[in-house]
Amino acid sequence: MTSLEKNPFRGGYAPVTEEITAFDLPVTGRLPEILNGRFLRNGPNPLDLDEPSPHLFLGNGMVHGVRIRDGRAEWYRNRWIRSDAVAAALGEEPRPGPRFDGLDSNANTHVIGHAGKTLAMVESGLPIQELTYELDTVGRYDFDGTLPGGFAAHSTVDPHTGDLHAVAYYFGWPDRIQHLVVNPAGRVECAVDIAVKDGPMVHDFALTGKYVVLYDLPVTYSTAALEAGVRLPYAWNEAHPARVGLLPRDGGGEDVRWFDIDPCWVFHTLNGYDDGDRVVIYVVAYDSLFVDARLDGGGPPGLERWVIDPASGSVKRERLDDRAQEFPRIDPRRAGMPHRYGYTVDTEELLVQLPRGAQDLSELPPPAFGAALLKYDFRTGNREEHLFPRGSYASEPVFVPADPSAEAAESVEDDGYVMTYVHNPDRNAADLVILSAQDFAGGPVATVHLPARVPLGFHGGFVFDES
Ligand SMILES: [Fe+2]
Repeated sequence: MTSLEKNPFRGGYAPVTEEITAFDLPVTGRLPEILNGRFLRNGPNPLDLDEPSPHLFLGNGMVHGVRIRDGRAEWYRNRWIRSDAVAAALGEEPRPGPRFDGLDSNANTHVIGHAGKTLAMVESGLPIQELTYELDTVGRYDFDGTLPGGFAAHSTVDPHTGDLHAVAYYFGWPDRIQHLVVNPAGRVECAVDIAVKDGPMVHDFALTGKYVVLYDLPVTYSTAALEAGVRLPYAWNEAHPARVGLLPRDGGGEDVRWFDIDPCWVFHTLNGYDDGDRVVIYVVAYDSLFVDARLDGGGPPGLERWVIDPASGSVKRERLDDRAQEFPRIDPRRAGMPHRYGYTVDTEELLVQLPRGAQDLSELPPPAFGAALLKYDFRTGNREEHLFPRGSYASEPVFVPADPSAEAAESVEDDGYVMTYVHNPDRNAADLVILSAQDFAGGPVATVHLPARVPLGFHGGFVFDES
């Protein structure tokens, strides 16, 4: 098998080879005046195309951003995260910053704005990388020395307090995970260790008014995988019981109550909330992950509603939709509160067929198919679809409220926009597509035409300038 055949970075995942700065981008339609900030997205974009065994989750991070102001798309930039390896490959000096346990970071999974900073994140204990407004790497960042270990790929802002919550894990911590709270000023004010076994991978969590909901699932650190040369040495572990935990928001690690569930895997939470004494979470669930070191999910990931009942000790799982999907998002003002709507991206072709069958993803089909965004109305059970033309591929749908200054309770939940990068096959370049969430299947409100491809990647959001 040639290195090309073994390379997961093909088709929609094929990396770009240049950093671009472009100004005054052409726009079709009308950009909403409320959009004053940057649409950012992070993802893997390997520099070393001769790497013999690349792994999709380990490619060098690259952040893509479009700056929008006063109805204009002022610029597009894409920048590699300057890990030491990337800086050296580009002939640059290494960036400064603290190294938890001596670690550097490719920071390839998420990018957020918090306390006036732009932060690129990854999981497994690796440091955050701070970026400038223009997406250049400042260096590794630990919330001014207040972060005791690594951070996490996913974090959730409590809309009531402005606190940023996350759950960290680290391959050097086989017996604990850590709940972190970063205050609005950008300092870690709470770090609670929670005892676990086997070093589980923890990609996300759920936040409710009362609890942090923890996932302790059967994907754990594997020395066997490490010795077999698996670059991401985590594996499905049938000996590791699957469970979810309720950590009271003001509790300690000893206060976690665990609930056994059937083995499964969850990358992402749509949302969670309290329903009386019960806890409800919406997740995208897989049957398994990393069985025989494959990225195979054991079947299409589907949208599920889990009800955790502390009184009975049960977790009731309900599959809401079998359609393969990922990257669930809601109105961020409703994080931890009941939600009516949710948005995901269809992955029938992109993320299910793509990883099925082989770790090297050699069966990746070229992106000669359409892609769809999905909108759910959980009150009516209705699902809407926004289908892009054949040959397109779309990524995470980010909801942006039409009036971000309004409280959730004061606003219509789907009064806003859904933004994502979409590959335009006619131009072989990306568009930033902005849909009206209330006219989801209709044509875009605005489309910003970028000068280059944006490869399929992971996560990001719209970062308002005042945030
Ligand atoms: Fe993720």
